[in-house]
Amino acid sequence: MALSNQQLNAIAEQFGTPVYVYHAEKMAEQYNNLTTAFAGQDVKIFYACKALTNINVLKHFKQLGSNIDCSSINEVKLALHAGFEPDRVLYTSNGIAFSEIEEAQSLGVHINIDSLSNLKKFGEKYGHSYPVGVRLRPNIMAGGNLKISTGHDKSKFGIPIDQMDELLAIIKETNLFIQGLHIHTGSEIKDVEVFIKGIEVLFDIIPLFNELEFIDLGGGFKVPYKKGDHQTDIQQLAAAVGEAFANHPNPNGKHLQVWFEPGKYLVSGAGYLITQVNVLKQSGTINFVSVNSGFNHLIRPMFYDAYHQITNISNTEGEEQHYAVVGNICETDTFAWDRKLHEVREGDYLVFANAGAYGFEMSSNFNSRYKPAEVLVKDGEYHLIRRRDVFENLLRNQVVVL
Ligand code: LLP
Repeated sequence: MALSNQQLNAIAEQFGTPVYVYHAEKMAEQYNNLTTAFAGQDVKIFYACKALTNINVLKHFKQLGSNIDCSSINEVKLALHAGFEPDRVLYTSNGIAFSEIEEAQSLGVHINIDSLSNLKKFGEKYGHSYPVGVRLRPNIMAGGNLKISTGHDKSKFGIPIDQMDELLAIIKETNLFIQGLHIHTGSEIKDVEVFIKGIEVLFDIIPLFNELEFIDLGGGFKVPYKKGDHQTDIQQLAAAVGEAFANHPNPNGKHLQVWFEPGKYLVSGAGYLITQVNVLKQSGTINFVSVNSGFNHLIRPMFYDAYHQITNISNTEGEEQHYAVVGNICETDTFAWDRKLHEVREGDYLVFANAGAYGFEMSSNFNSRYKPAEVLVKDGEYHLIRRRDVFENLLRNQVVVL
């Protein structure tokens, strides 16, 4: 399910560019893929909202029946603001001040704690009165590239699994109620075996925790970015997870729920960034296409060497040529070096696909440029869900002292 070029052209004309566009029905399709694949298993899906936090997107996932995973106290507050009940909100933090954990506790949400230090403070303050999850680092290398790998033995995330003795000592000493164990090994994990490997690491230690109610396997499902790209086979994942847990009943006899926290899987393919061509420049054999955007709006190509499909929606029949698609900020910001596109002319609209996850969310005002507008397409209608910045936004928080 994709938006048509005609729809994207109409949105560009109506709302101007650059503009992020999100397709509500595509998000629903992805969410339903997951719930259908895991039907019959006690699995809960928490949308990892760090991927995209527009309040309308949060409300949409709430209406779909999803739970929500947050990575900052402000995401927790946004989730509550969007109407999620605290019981449907999970705060999986890393390296945060204990005061944020106290605040999350006062809001009544689920919390996964990722350091011995914060866990000890939590135990000393709340003892057995507030159940908590423990984020472990399983020492598994996984994910699309090192920058998005979080479970390996040099990663800052989670409590290293080899510090189990210290962890157990803190739990005993402070009488903590450990409700869940959490691991997240990385983003863009295409092999189901990685998840199974993680589960097996957990199976070895599950017997050490006698009040467990859930196992949280994080997110990281791979989505296709280009034609022929592999993606995580969700059916296979569901079958493998079901089988693994069927063969390993919880030793304390309690039923174990399985939680997932997908971000990209739910929103990546539902998003588009529409840009417009400012300038064409020929240099030797290189045809530069400079668009009215840059890594200030979509940082993934520069930051992770990520591939985003680009389509010239203004000239879908033109002869294909090779282009270097670059941004207009004062950096070597390049979206694609040698990309085949239908003939590009100044003024054409170029659309970046897979822009729903970590697109707008990682954007900035670098070069004092405006952040793009955001539009939601739902039931065939176009809704402006964030206005483009205006000049006042650049000055709003500045304190003039001179
Ligand atoms: N849960 C935890 C604890 C996480 O750290 C993350 C992502 C997720 C869930 C969701 O992962 P996803 O399903 O979206 O792969 N900005 C990078 C991705 C960084 C992901 C960080 N953590 C990118 O644009 O590729």
